[in-house]
Amino acid sequence: MDRIRIVGGQRLNGTIPISGAKNATLPLMIASLLTDQPLVLENVPRLADVIQLQRILGNHGVDVMINGKRPGDDPNAGRTITLSARTIVDTTAPYELVSKMRASFWVVAPLLARMGEAKVSLPGGCAIGTRPVDLLIMALEKLGAEIEIDAGYVIARARNGLRGGEIVFPKVTVGGTHTALMAAVLAKGTTVIDNAAREPEVTDVADCLNKMGAKIAGAGTSRIVVEGVARLNGARHSVLPDRIETGTYAMAVAMTGGDVLLQNTRPDLLQSALDVLEQTGVTVTPTNEGIRVARNGAGISAVDVTTQPFPGFPTDLQAQFMALMTKAKGTSRITETIFENRFMHVQELSRLGARIKLSGDTATIEGVERLKGAPVMATDLRASVSLVIAGLAAEGETMVNRVYHLDRGFEKLEEKLAACGAAIERISE
Ligand code: EPZ
Repeated sequence: MDRIRIVGGQRLNGTIPISGAKNATLPLMIASLLTDQPLVLENVPRLADVIQLQRILGNHGVDVMINGKRPGDDPNAGRTITLSARTIVDTTAPYELVSKMRASFWVVAPLLARMGEAKVSLPGGCAIGTRPVDLLIMALEKLGAEIEIDAGYVIARARNGLRGGEIVFPKVTVGGTHTALMAAVLAKGTTVIDNAAREPEVTDVADCLNKMGAKIAGAGTSRIVVEGVARLNGARHSVLPDRIETGTYAMAVAMTGGDVLLQNTRPDLLQSALDVLEQTGVTVTPTNEGIRVARNGAGISAVDVTTQPFPGFPTDLQAQFMALMTKAKGTSRITETIFENRFMHVQELSRLGARIKLSGDTATIEGVERLKGAPVMATDLRASVSLVIAGLAAEGETMVNRVYHLDRGFEKLEEKLAACGAAIERISE
């Protein structure tokens, strides 16, 4: 299994190209199930999760074509993939596939909307918490689906098609909002989604669905209105930049010091995180090309953070920010309100010399002068990358094990960091 070896202490200077967003790519690929015409997605990142979803969609009959590269093409440009769901050959998503990637549960809505039936395995728990799907099921029922749960599978039926309805989410859910949208676009009549997730990835999916002929208004606000249409067409859509990748590298620069241009990304996608970074002493400058992040000389100030749905501070940057706070001057508190168990990085950061106390949903981090490299591993994607950030500033060698978590969500991580001067390499075995 691959490992990543880091020797800490180098500042980061240069340019890091930001890839297309994983968490938009996955639902966009799933949206291809809604039409018998080709959906062309540009700026698709090369990630293990994308390959896994190709397999899952292939099982339903989706033909996936990946465009090649010609000599002279920008090696960092994302891929273009074409997904054609001309015929759905199977409306079942089996446990073996869904258990490998939770987001694949989201196929339930487009399969049900287009075929009138779907049988999808419940995804089960995962490293960051129990992560139920009750609200996704509630949304489908509001649109007229009959749902049965049998032997670990959700069996959804809508023999006469789905019909518009009113969905009020008691808590903000990204997956619930994707599910409601993908079901409502082909339902008869009007659907209103209240307390909808406002995450940029939801807006990106809604934009793509509108290009496919859907009638969605209000995406990006907490009230989305969908007028159902009889069928959707193919379309061409470019995936928006990955705000979590952007924030991760911004925090890496904050940690090591230096000056890096994060290219092909936008500050409005992560304003709350950039505001927090500025409070820690980092200079953030929006440019025509992206976002410049610099920290020269000054130390890191301690700042308290509470994770919130968008536009608040994202849970997917919580672990990375905690890594940064381990070297801050003073004590900070990080409160996690989205997932109940997303603190697995605490133990591993402590192995590098961090001083962190956990109490319920809050971590108290007492900044230390020095971290010291050690072998570490993590159980999810964002926790793993927080260890990379800590390793970049730790004395000596940090070996990050279980690199497959990083490969799920960060394209060319070690290449991008090494190009800015980090001493980081992948060790393949
Ligand atoms: C998405 O997960 C992201 N995944 C997550 O990113 C992200 O952390 C999360 O949104 C929050 O921003 C993808 O986009 C593929 P939720 P999702 O439904 O949709 C509870 C990463 O590292 N809930 O918004 O599954 C749930 O338990 C990943 O890239 C219910 O109670 O998250 C959680 O506490 C990890 N019932 C809260 O809502 C439900 O039916 C928000 O979850 C659904 C969710």
